[in-house]
Amino acid sequence: MGLERRWLQAVTTAVAICLLSVSQGEASLVHARVGSSAELSCSLNPTSTEATTPNLFPLHVVEWVRLGFNVPILIKFGVYAPRVHPNYKGRVSLTRGASLLVERLTLEDEGWFECRILLLDSQKDDFRNGTWTFLSITAPPVFIKTPPTFVEVLLGDSLTLSCGAHGNPRPTVVWHKDESQIEKHEKIKVLNGTLSLAAVTRNISGVYKCHVSNTEGNLTHYTQLQVKGPPIILISPEDTTLNMTQDAVLQCQADAYPSNLTYEWWKQGENVYHIESLKSRVKVLVDGTLLIPNLIPEDAGNYTCIPTNGILTPPSATAHLKVKHPARVGRMSRETYLPAGMEGVIVCPVQADPPVMYVNWTKDGNDLNLDNFPGWIVNSEGSVFITTANDNAVGMYTCTAYNSYGTMGRSEPTQVILKDPPSFRSASSA
Ligand SMILES: *[C@@H]1O[C@H](CO)[C@@H](O)[C@H](O)[C@H]1NC(C)=O
Ligand SMILES: *[C@@H]1O[C@H](CO)[C@@H](O)[C@H](O)[C@H]1NC(C)=O
Ligand SMILES: *[C@@H]1O[C@H](CO)[C@@H](O)[C@H](O)[C@H]1NC(C)=O
Ligand SMILES: *[C@@H]1O[C@H](CO)[C@@H](O)[C@H](O)[C@H]1NC(C)=O
Ligand SMILES: *[C@@H]1O[C@H](CO)[C@@H](O)[C@H](O)[C@H]1NC(C)=O
Ligand SMILES: *[C@@H]1O[C@H](CO)[C@@H](O)[C@H](O)[C@H]1NC(C)=O
Ligand SMILES: *[C@@H]1O[C@H](CO)[C@@H](O)[C@H](O)[C@H]1NC(C)=O
Ligand SMILES: *[C@@H]1O[C@H](CO)[C@@H](O)[C@H](O)[C@H]1NC(C)=O
Repeated sequence: MGLERRWLQAVTTAVAICLLSVSQGEASLVHARVGSSAELSCSLNPTSTEATTPNLFPLHVVEWVRLGFNVPILIKFGVYAPRVHPNYKGRVSLTRGASLLVERLTLEDEGWFECRILLLDSQKDDFRNGTWTFLSITAPPVFIKTPPTFVEVLLGDSLTLSCGAHGNPRPTVVWHKDESQIEKHEKIKVLNGTLSLAAVTRNISGVYKCHVSNTEGNLTHYTQLQVKGPPIILISPEDTTLNMTQDAVLQCQADAYPSNLTYEWWKQGENVYHIESLKSRVKVLVDGTLLIPNLIPEDAGNYTCIPTNGILTPPSATAHLKVKHPARVGRMSRETYLPAGMEGVIVCPVQADPPVMYVNWTKDGNDLNLDNFPGWIVNSEGSVFITTANDNAVGMYTCTAYNSYGTMGRSEPTQVILKDPPSFRSASSA
């Protein structure tokens, strides 16, 4: 039988022999670290013939096969240069007879190897039983995937951070947050090295550590996680009561990431910079404080602070500003019409905080003395209430309102005019 055919036969029977030989307990185990070299031993015990005639060594063929490879990884015959499997070019050589030296080991080199010696001089058409070796490659962890070192995530979004490593034995992956192990009860799940969270909350910001380790070593990867969200108000404006002409200082302070904060102030649904009586006087400081110098009664109202960084819906906080001032009378009608013969009211549009105490009226330049007008009263709002309007009511009126702070003066005059009452016809046709 030709040499080539013998080789072929040897290779094709390798797999079958493997299981048999291992079960016979002839296998050995070699551990080696990735990158280093390993020696798989195979003794070239001289047969009786060889012992007596050592020069007949060329009559041996040393063959190393690997389980799963259909071509031997090395074949050496006599003085000829060995034939080497392409995957092992430059990495395998024979040493101390038939032992195999494998260099620059990779994880892929792990597996079963068999050494065979073919005896070409044997009368029996046979080869010596193989020696089986399991080459186990140990490797310290090497990251195959890591999250970025800096991760921004929007509040409420889901999050996954994947961390994985190669190595032998298979590395274990452990996640820590701010140096403490992630607890089970938290909403953060860790599965097979991947950390995940269905909906991000603010308190998950921090430094996350992925630690991979096996018996050969360990590696650590850090990720800084930052939650992007709308601002949080730290200082809300407070309800404030001030006197007219004093300066109002309404505070508002927020914290945010991203921290490009701007503050808006609104009064009654309108930006303060759009309100005629305020826009030239107010100032919003960079720290969020609203300044209203030299208060006027119209400044009273609800002021809302809205800090924003452009992320999601900004929060808001509202304070009520009260402006105390002496009582005053607002815009008085030039003319007041009273229905002849019927009830009528001459209104004094009072503005007062503290509340009005009393309102004095003048009629045609003289103090209005109600004693002279039976059926007339000044009601609690300061308006003159007339039971039956007649010619006596006609004239020019002013009112002056007072509260505990005093008064801001008398009103513009209103001309009281008597008018025919609405006719029955128009009433019935209505
Ligand atoms: C070789 O293996 C066969 C089985 O395949 C076994 O019967 C025989 O004893 C073995 N020979 C030696 C020398 O180990
Ligand atoms: C875990 O990850 C490894 C590779 O990183 C993968 O081979 C394996 O199938 C994963 N297991 C599960 C349960 O997802
Ligand atoms: C973070 O806040 C959520 C609620 O917003 C809470 O359920 C969770 O326990 C908090 N986690 C930590 C670590 O404080
Ligand atoms: C990680 O490896 C270093 C040596 O590189 C060793 O000192 C340390 O104990 C290892 N840590 C863990 C947790 O395995
Ligand atoms: C406002 O004015 C009143 C009376 O003029 C005075 O009693 C009070 O102390 C003042 N309040 C403030 C806050 O200045
Ligand atoms: C200001 O806010 C208070 C409480 O929210 C409310 O009762 C009041 O009506 C508001 N004032 C104005 C002028 O809107
Ligand atoms: C702040 O910056 C973010 C981007 O980081 C941008 O989307 C947002 O519009 C900015 N907000 C303001 C108020 O400038
Ligand atoms: C206003 O009216 C009150 C009584 O209502 C009176 O005591 C007071 O003197 C009046 N004041 C003036 C300035 O007329």
